[in-house]
Amino acid sequence: MKQPKRFTITAALPYTNGPVHIGHLAGVYVPADIFARYQRMQGADVAFICGSDEHGVAIPMRAKKEGVSPQQIIDKYHGIIKQSFADFGITFDNYSRTSAPIHHETASQFFTTLYDKGDFEEKVTEQLYDEEAKQFLADRFVVGTCPKCGYYESYGDQCENCGTSHNATDLINPKSTLSGTPPVLKETKHWFLPLDRYEDFLKEWIIKGHETDWKSNVYGQCKSWIDDGLRPRAVTRDLDWGIPVPVTGAEGKVLYVWFDAPIGYISSTKEWANRTGKDWKPYWKDENTTLLHFIGKDNIVFHCIIFPSMLKAEGSYILPDNVPANEFLNLEGAKISTSKNWAVWLHEYLEEFPNQQDVLRYVLTANAPETKDNDFTWADFQARNNNELVAIFGNFINRVTVLTHKYYNGTVPKPSDFTEVDIQALKEMRAYPEVIASSIERYRFREAQMRLMDLARLGNKYLAEEEPWKTIKVDGDRTQTIMYVALQMSAALAVLSEPFLPFTSEKLKQQLQLDQQNGNKLTWNQVSEDIALLPEGHPIGDNQLLFSKIEDEQITAQLEKLQSSKEANKMTSSNVTPQKETISFDDFTQLDLRVGTILEAEKMPKTKKLLVLKVDTGIDVRTIVSGIAESFAPEDIIGKQVTVLVNLAPRKLRGVESQGMILMTETEEGHLVFVNPDQKDLFNGATIN
Ligand code: 2FM
Ligand code: ZN
Repeated sequence: MKQPKRFTITAALPYTNGPVHIGHLAGVYVPADIFARYQRMQGADVAFICGSDEHGVAIPMRAKKEGVSPQQIIDKYHGIIKQSFADFGITFDNYSRTSAPIHHETASQFFTTLYDKGDFEEKVTEQLYDEEAKQFLADRFVVGTCPKCGYYESYGDQCENCGTSHNATDLINPKSTLSGTPPVLKETKHWFLPLDRYEDFLKEWIIKGHETDWKSNVYGQCKSWIDDGLRPRAVTRDLDWGIPVPVTGAEGKVLYVWFDAPIGYISSTKEWANRTGKDWKPYWKDENTTLLHFIGKDNIVFHCIIFPSMLKAEGSYILPDNVPANEFLNLEGAKISTSKNWAVWLHEYLEEFPNQQDVLRYVLTANAPETKDNDFTWADFQARNNNELVAIFGNFINRVTVLTHKYYNGTVPKPSDFTEVDIQALKEMRAYPEVIASSIERYRFREAQMRLMDLARLGNKYLAEEEPWKTIKVDGDRTQTIMYVALQMSAALAVLSEPFLPFTSEKLKQQLQLDQQNGNKLTWNQVSEDIALLPEGHPIGDNQLLFSKIEDEQITAQLEKLQSSKEANKMTSSNVTPQKETISFDDFTQLDLRVGTILEAEKMPKTKKLLVLKVDTGIDVRTIVSGIAESFAPEDIIGKQVTVLVNLAPRKLRGVESQGMILMTETEEGHLVFVNPDQKDLFNGATIN
């Protein structure tokens, strides 16, 4: 017998420093679940793996904020997150946690293997140190200006604006997030993964090997990092929360969270295998296994560069076939933020929309940020539910089942001769498994779900044109045939909707008593066959409403809830950055701020964030590179008057020398805006003081 195809599907391990929200679901877990469910329906051998990411500085930071221990934090959020995933029908085969002993062992062992093979560079280097807090600063303990895009609040290990991963010592003007003071440099010993050694391998594997099959956002990011040159990355930290570095002389040091977290996929697979009596190894070591990482775009570097280099160094593991990363989902036009409570939390959604998991799954897939950042709005949520799920899918099923009960006592009628229209409709229906599959297999879940809805549309159109409610009065045989065809389409929808709308699919199957006809579950591919999905004489069950209308009041309540988060944010001053240290008047007068006008603007090739501007400063016309491309279209800012810091030391960004800086600020919603002179009659070169 042919071996079923084997898949190891991983979904990013969420940090247990808060509950999960719609952004998590849209970006990672729903697409991964659609894929896993679909592959299982194809008969594949699937290990769908996840767990909680419980190390890293985010945890002790949250613990400090809530006044409890880190252990209490991880226990609390691990429970909430695990429950939310189960509630939304995310079918992980295993959901583990990185505090589990099996993970500590696996990660320590992995480190030791690389250490023994001499795959690390052991270096005493100067690292940032907060003298007030008496602590080394890395990752989220330090913010500063990103050396790559100029974003002024980049974290120590990664810039949230451009996604680049760097060392904390690369930051320009670093500042401790513990005390707010600028750190000093202090010597400490760490182990570095020499990424530069893997450049050739990465070039061959990604740049040559995956140009066509990886998503362009993923491929582009990887290529730009590799082209920029890779440097050794420290994989240990001076912290007291994490997995102790398993070598002597490393007391008080732990593994970097991004070293241990992806190994969590392996330990979670081991946990699953132990529980189910399987062997975990083929899922990670057999070349015939397809390994896939579902992640958000901020995780690309870790899954495409760092983790594969670790796997390569270890030597016995397979590499991912694909890393279908998504962009971000915004909420009502603003970035989702845990700290600002600007989010739709999954556990709260279910309290307010009980049993409506599929509506959210549907809307998040319909609007998935597959190729660019997208926006979730409550108005769109309502419209998609009422105009699509209720009016198209629900309406079709409702008409079919109501009429079947009314005309035939709930039994599938015997068809007579099929007309050309019937034959065509059945033929179209039988094409859908392949059409939808092709989109899923290319990670185009929005498109796949759209095709599913086309099948429901086909059903509605068929009924509207064949009008069984009219033919019943004059032609009993014809009516039976029409209803028979429509029932086949209902069955096809029940099967093909399973990956997208699992709760609805289940309800519909029960309603049609689909899987009870001969004890066999109808498979995906059987929908394509010339067989009766529901044979004549088959009894269907009672009517159930699949979807219900969402009323305006429910939407207003949600918008009001968001509005109150906004108000609360205004009240607390937590958004306002604390005042910096006092400077002298002389220091201030050193800043040469001028009014300028943007004359030209164009996107820096191969970047998402950068615009190259020509600015008339009154003194001269100069080039300024600004990280604002995601907020402004080049053509919209030409002619705009702006505030320019003209005597900032020139800096090269992506090979282009930037001669100054344009002053920007953010609105409450997180939109970038110019600090705009906003006055008539200002001339270029006018000084600002
Ligand atoms: O970005 C995050 O939420 C990380 N906790 C993802 C980790 S993915 C993996 F490598 F574990
Ligand atoms: Zn950056």
